[in-house]
Amino acid sequence: MTDSPIENPADAPARPAPTGAGERRGPLRPGQRVQLKDAKGRLNTVTLTEGGQFHSYQGVLHHDDLIGGPDGVVVANSAGHDYQVLRPLLSDFVLSMPRGATVVYPKDAGQIVQMADVFPGATVVEAGVGSGGLSISLLRAVGDSGQLHSYERREEFADVARANVQTFFGGEHPAWRIHLGNAQDQMTAVHEPGSVDRVVLDMLAPWECLDAVATVLAPGGVWINYVATATQLSRVAEAIREDGRFTQTEASETMVRGWHLDGLAVRPDHRMVAHTGFLLACRRLATGQEALALKKRSKVSEFKAVDVEAWQPADENRWTPEALGERPVTDKKARKAAREAASMEQRGARRHLEDL
Ligand SMILES: C[S@@+](CC[C@H](N)C(=O)[O-])C[C@H]1O[C@@H](n2cnc3c(N)ncnc32)[C@H](O)[C@@H]1O
Repeated sequence: MTDSPIENPADAPARPAPTGAGERRGPLRPGQRVQLKDAKGRLNTVTLTEGGQFHSYQGVLHHDDLIGGPDGVVVANSAGHDYQVLRPLLSDFVLSMPRGATVVYPKDAGQIVQMADVFPGATVVEAGVGSGGLSISLLRAVGDSGQLHSYERREEFADVARANVQTFFGGEHPAWRIHLGNAQDQMTAVHEPGSVDRVVLDMLAPWECLDAVATVLAPGGVWINYVATATQLSRVAEAIREDGRFTQTEASETMVRGWHLDGLAVRPDHRMVAHTGFLLACRRLATGQEALALKKRSKVSEFKAVDVEAWQPADENRWTPEALGERPVTDKKARKAAREAASMEQRGARRHLEDL
């Protein structure tokens, strides 16, 4: 065995802490959110304030008993009832934050980051931004030196997302830009051709962005689509295949089945989130290249034009949120979510000012 110099990371020069890292560790501080779990498993999320109190029919828990102390404690309230205290994880935050549009579930966000191979320093385009659920995971993956450009056509949703992202990271993230408007109209004006490493679309009609994505995506770049229905999946897959500028089209869905662990009673949970969405990934070929013609071709299924029309109507007006089973979000509901997200973000921002 030869001696090899091993650099001790502790000897490396100090680097600035990545955005948001301070929110995830250390003693609990005013302005931070914590989850309180009682002995019956009931969860409440509260924002800590000096002198603040959490009231339940079982008594009062004083925030000052938690502030300055560690994460992961069990404390008693005024009536002697115990509460377990933990900082919410990213997945807890996303599932409990104010929402305009439906968020990408944490299980899918994790899979998207992996399938798209989102790396620190990458330039990523995302649309739509919705409530900002996926934006948080993408920002974490690109880091402070990367770029995330998020396109959103509804201003109220962009407001919800902005506030949620700032609450999560404890302030603005240096890698993030939101662009208002239709992604397909804006993308090519903002990005040089071939300059984007990854594109992630979570929207009703991703095929409308095909040309813009093909223009901005770098050769070898990954494009991921997250769609709720099999008809959207098929429509975007066929559009990509027909276009010819992409290769390695792969579709999947992710199911996570929790397990009940209690002594000898070890079995899958009775309930699960069975369906959220499908992922369709593909990669951009270099300009002028054609996808490799594989010798072993799958048998082409027989179908008639009328079958395709029933499955993928050519009439764009038939691809409505309602036809695809989505609940429409009224402007009033979206504005309410934006107000809730802003007030949550302001409580955190006040604490940052007090810390300065
Ligand atoms: C399901 S939501 C996205 C949720 C988001 N990924 C999250 O995790 O919070 C879909 C969003 O796409 C937006 N949208 C739909 N088509 C769009 C387009 N062509 N350009 C920009 N945004 C679009 C909608 O307004 C909506 O906010």
